[in-house]
Amino acid sequence: MPTPRKGRRSLAAIVLAAGRGTRMKTRRAKVLHEVCGRPLVYYPVKRALEAGASPVVVVVGHQGDEVRRALETLLPGAPLRFVRQERQLGTAHAVLSAKPALRGYRGPVLILSGDTPLLTARTLESVLEARTSPGSLAFATMVLENPAGYGRVVHSPEKGPALIVEEKDATPEERKIKEVNAGLYAADAEFLWKTLARVDARNAQREFYLTDLVALAAEGPGAVAARVSAVEASGVNDQEELSLAARVLTRRIAQALMASGVTLEDPERFDADEGVEVGPDTVVEPSVRLRGATRIGPGCRIGQGSILASTVVGAGVEIRPYTVTDRARIEDGCVVGPFSRLRPESVLAEGAHVGNFVELKKTRLGRGSKANHLAYLGDATIGASVNVGCGTITCNYDGERKHPTTIGDGVFVGSDSILVAPIRIGKGAYVAAGSTLTESVPAGSLALGRARQVVKRGWVRKRDAARAGKGK
Ligand code: UD1
Ligand code: CA
Repeated sequence: MPTPRKGRRSLAAIVLAAGRGTRMKTRRAKVLHEVCGRPLVYYPVKRALEAGASPVVVVVGHQGDEVRRALETLLPGAPLRFVRQERQLGTAHAVLSAKPALRGYRGPVLILSGDTPLLTARTLESVLEARTSPGSLAFATMVLENPAGYGRVVHSPEKGPALIVEEKDATPEERKIKEVNAGLYAADAEFLWKTLARVDARNAQREFYLTDLVALAAEGPGAVAARVSAVEASGVNDQEELSLAARVLTRRIAQALMASGVTLEDPERFDADEGVEVGPDTVVEPSVRLRGATRIGPGCRIGQGSILASTVVGAGVEIRPYTVTDRARIEDGCVVGPFSRLRPESVLAEGAHVGNFVELKKTRLGRGSKANHLAYLGDATIGASVNVGCGTITCNYDGERKHPTTIGDGVFVGSDSILVAPIRIGKGAYVAAGSTLTESVPAGSLALGRARQVVKRGWVRKRDAARAGKGK
């Protein structure tokens, strides 16, 4: 992760995130749509923080409370400030609504769009560095084969960039220009507030355009265009662009993991959320999805088709195919799957094994314990070296409340046992196969909880004889 740039006196940032994003065709505000598990707006905010901006002022409007909550949860303790733009009167108006949050601040201000998730901190640096003097304005431009929808950059022969024309205001000639405004700016606070006051809404959309700053700057020290990569600066305006952004981000995550020693058998069939961690020498088979705050240690194997959400995995763990976990902890040397399901608050202590069609919920399986086939273990605390037989069920729910099951070290639970909670099975006890237990079992005992088997010798012969007698 890039460290904040040292030696800079100060930097503030404004992220514009008040718009609705009608082209998404959804009820949800555009900047709340997720890529790699985080809302769009997270990315420019995070990059601005990485560039050393403090504070980062986020201009919110549509679903503003949710935008704020999402950012505060994802970036606890970050120097964020939120301002509300009640009516979306345009990008210049949006920046002006951030002014109260920057009262007294002097120095450079970065302005970013909430819908540009692919920016890198390096690109922000290049725009900041493009400014020739404190009074000047720098803005990022990119060249697009299809510039439709973007503001076009018009250069004048003497002064460099002279103005930005929005698509709706452009002449047919201007629409042919392929250099477009990327929507990323760096300007001095003083210049910004002074110049924004002069922006009006005399244009096709009756909006206050931030892009007017370029023409207004040309009257003074001028504006500088910093050319950036189109991949990085492209915005998300509709569902297709959202999916393309997700691909680019996923690819970046995959590349970073491979660069750190992770083997991805097929990076094209790999999904990971921003922030997941995987240790070196871990092999990830195809079609794995790592979500949320998942952290995987070194030397593991993650089987095909597994989905791990906010799961912490130790070292040398083998997760066999099609395992689904959520908020679980799997310690060193465990073997899980295929087809296991670990629900929230499940813990597998070192060397535990969980096999096919085993579901755990809020259950701790102790060191070296095994539940290898077809079991449901819920609200259970299971000691070390326990063998949970095939078909074991903890009946933790009585229709109203959940009850705990406690199983001591070294217990052997025979197959097809039903443990009706609350119940305790003491250390070293044996539960006979097929038992239904409703009472606790003291340590070292054998518990049988099943109907005694009855065998009627010669029963078939007697029945047949009886039938033959009737037939006569
Ligand atoms: C804007 C630029 C255009 C540039 C493009 C790059 C203007 C007038 N045009 O157009 O030159 O090529 O970005 O992506 O600036 N927003 C607010 N409040 C508002 C209006 C917008 O917060 O009143 C926010 C939006 O939520 C969005 C960002 O500003 O995150 C950009 O707005 P958007 O409507 O997407 O601008 P574009 O039409 O794409
Ligand atoms: Ca846009």
